[in-house]
Amino acid sequence: MSLFAVSLSRVQPSATIAVTQKARQLKAEGRDVIGLGAGEPDFDTPENIKEAAIDAIRRGETKYTDVTGIPELKKAIAAKFARENNLTYAPEQCYVAPGGKPIIYNAMMATLNPGDEVIIPAPYWVSYPDIVNLAGGTPVIVEATAEHGFKLQADVLEAAITPKTKWLIFNSPSNPTGAAYTREELKPLTDVLLRHPHVWVLTDDMYEHLTYGNFTFVTPAEVEPQLYDRTLTMNGVSKAYAMTGWRIGYCAGPAALISAMAKIQSQSTSNPTSISQWAAVEALNGPQDYIAQSNAVFVRRRDMVVDMLNAAEGIQCATPEGAFYVYPSCAGCIGKTTKSGVTLQSDEDFATALLEEEGVAVVHGAAFGLSPFFRISYATSDENLREACTRIQRFCANLS
Ligand SMILES: Cc1ncc(COP(=O)(O)O)c(C=O)c1O
Repeated sequence: MSLFAVSLSRVQPSATIAVTQKARQLKAEGRDVIGLGAGEPDFDTPENIKEAAIDAIRRGETKYTDVTGIPELKKAIAAKFARENNLTYAPEQCYVAPGGKPIIYNAMMATLNPGDEVIIPAPYWVSYPDIVNLAGGTPVIVEATAEHGFKLQADVLEAAITPKTKWLIFNSPSNPTGAAYTREELKPLTDVLLRHPHVWVLTDDMYEHLTYGNFTFVTPAEVEPQLYDRTLTMNGVSKAYAMTGWRIGYCAGPAALISAMAKIQSQSTSNPTSISQWAAVEALNGPQDYIAQSNAVFVRRRDMVVDMLNAAEGIQCATPEGAFYVYPSCAGCIGKTTKSGVTLQSDEDFATALLEEEGVAVVHGAAFGLSPFFRISYATSDENLREACTRIQRFCANLS
């Protein structure tokens, strides 16, 4: 009898974590490696948020809390949704978890039965299909192609819906492409969903605050209020406030779904860390100027990276609306041979050879379900990015 559960065989280890580990290992061996794999801001958590956590410790806010979060945080979440997204949620409809990832996990665990299908547009965040598999559902991958700016088209969504479809997982701005939907781009999708009342929407708005220029963020239940009763709107403090290590994600949705998810959380992690919850209250209720400051840095980096990548032979890179990723095509490099004699047959070969020959760690597109591309996270210093892009240009120039 095997020690391990059958469900484990349905899950892959995270490719993004694997790349980060490989880069770390090469660095430890003394190699000069620039890691562009990590999906977290390189900034420190703002001082006011840290102070709120320290105050919470001093006040003795160090005990178990309600499983789904302290009332003060639920109130701050409801106020955030009203203020920024025109969505009205009662605090009881709000739910806090130890990160955004457990929200997706708990929602899938609470709702999926064998055979239930979950539509996931590719390229997707690596965890979506694995979470669906682990929860016993069936991921249905649909392509959001480069020709359409990596945005799902209404006819593609319509064709993927079956009587077994339970959820659409929607993510804007996207990890890995940075693509974000305008109201005009989202409306045709919500129109399709209106015609299929059995399909629920999990919208992962984790990168809401990371959009650039005049872009206006919108979320499905805001664009189509008739979807409110079957939408789980998810967000978190990890990316917007440089709080990845604090582990706080939040969401709001129909009360029955929220209480089903609470049941799962009550028998797994219990409440998210009390101290982090108080920090998140300050993040949501406190001054928001940190967001504009960090976005000014991110947009400058995005523009530099896009320009430098487009100057590399065989690489084509679109300018995304948000997040801190770009998703360039390496189609022009496939079939060519590197200076050390490796023929590149896939984006995985491209990423492996780039790491071996130039010490630049990127994540290959196949990990996100759309090839031949690779993902660069520009949440690292300007110097690192400039050097990494120079190396990519050299790597491409040396292909024959
Ligand atoms: C699209 C997306 N959703 C959710 C998460 C998870 O965030 P958290 O660190 O809060 O679990 C990430 C993190 O990389 C992400 O990129």
